[in-house]
Amino acid sequence: MSRYGEFPAVRPRRLRATAAMRRMVAEHRPHPAELILPAFVREGISEPVPVSSMPGVVQHTVDTLRAAAVEAARAGVGGIMLFGVPEVKDAVGCAGTDPDGILQVALRAVRAEVGDDLVVMSDLCLDESTDHGHCGVLDERGGVDNDATLERYAEMAVVQAEAGAHVLGPSGMMDGQIGRVRQALDAAGHSDVALLAYTAKYASAFYGPFREAVNSQLKGDRKTYQQDPPNAREALRELALDVAEGADMVMVKPGLPYLDVLRRIADEAPVPVAAYQISGEYAMVEAAAEKGWIDRERAIDETLMSFRRAGADLVLTYWATEAARRMTRG
Ligand code: PBG
Repeated sequence: MSRYGEFPAVRPRRLRATAAMRRMVAEHRPHPAELILPAFVREGISEPVPVSSMPGVVQHTVDTLRAAAVEAARAGVGGIMLFGVPEVKDAVGCAGTDPDGILQVALRAVRAEVGDDLVVMSDLCLDESTDHGHCGVLDERGGVDNDATLERYAEMAVVQAEAGAHVLGPSGMMDGQIGRVRQALDAAGHSDVALLAYTAKYASAFYGPFREAVNSQLKGDRKTYQQDPPNAREALRELALDVAEGADMVMVKPGLPYLDVLRRIADEAPVPVAAYQISGEYAMVEAAAEKGWIDRERAIDETLMSFRRAGADLVLTYWATEAARRMTRG
């Protein structure tokens, strides 16, 4: 009995008393298989090039990418998402539809290395290949032409499927992209290739370091196609469309600033839900840790747990391999 009598009769602290107790009652047990490693591969380099705003992340050569894929698979990571950085960019992103474009070369190399042991995914977007940096082709007034872009995505999808991708991730936020890409894949005999839809992708300041990672030449912003940060309900509309158009999985992006959107999508989605912990989120934690202001590993694991708690089944994170090893170690 406490000196206040019978109070408090209910003591939640009992279940927090020892590490064993906390482990036993944990609601979520993160597993490496739910992690997906995003990775960059750059054409025309003989050594990996560090991405300065993402300490620990590099633009890979095809060879170092193969090694990173093997390492990820050994750590139990579920999948890898490839982004290609071509040497030559142009108005319509020809590198994206060239069977010998860097992303296609990388897909073939990684599939040859890991087979079906790791789920191999590719970003399906034009911004890595265009000289203006937009995710689509431009009309005569300089706006992003939705329907003309869909035709480029359809071509890209077939080329990526032929290069060996198990899953394609259309990330350009064009209307109808899932339906158009699904149709193109099926028509080309690739009905087995799955689609991870970037369902709720917001026009975010946190993509900053990614633009360095893909040598982006973007001037301006993506606000006419990516979602506006004040809007959450719109994400549910995008979800309904993506599912109706044939999405096999859906994604919310960025992660931490949009946990509310993630929860709402997770509550309604009839398919697996992914969260993408993006470049700026990675950079924030690494920068604060470098200054000694936070405990790096605990901060990383806590952010990953937040996505699970908010309802994500899958998490794309640049820390995938490292975090997977910690999860296995327990
Ligand atoms: C577009 C794309 C972007 C990211 C993934 N796919 C950039 C953008 O929309 O500007 C960002 C990923 C990150 O920041 O880590 N192809």
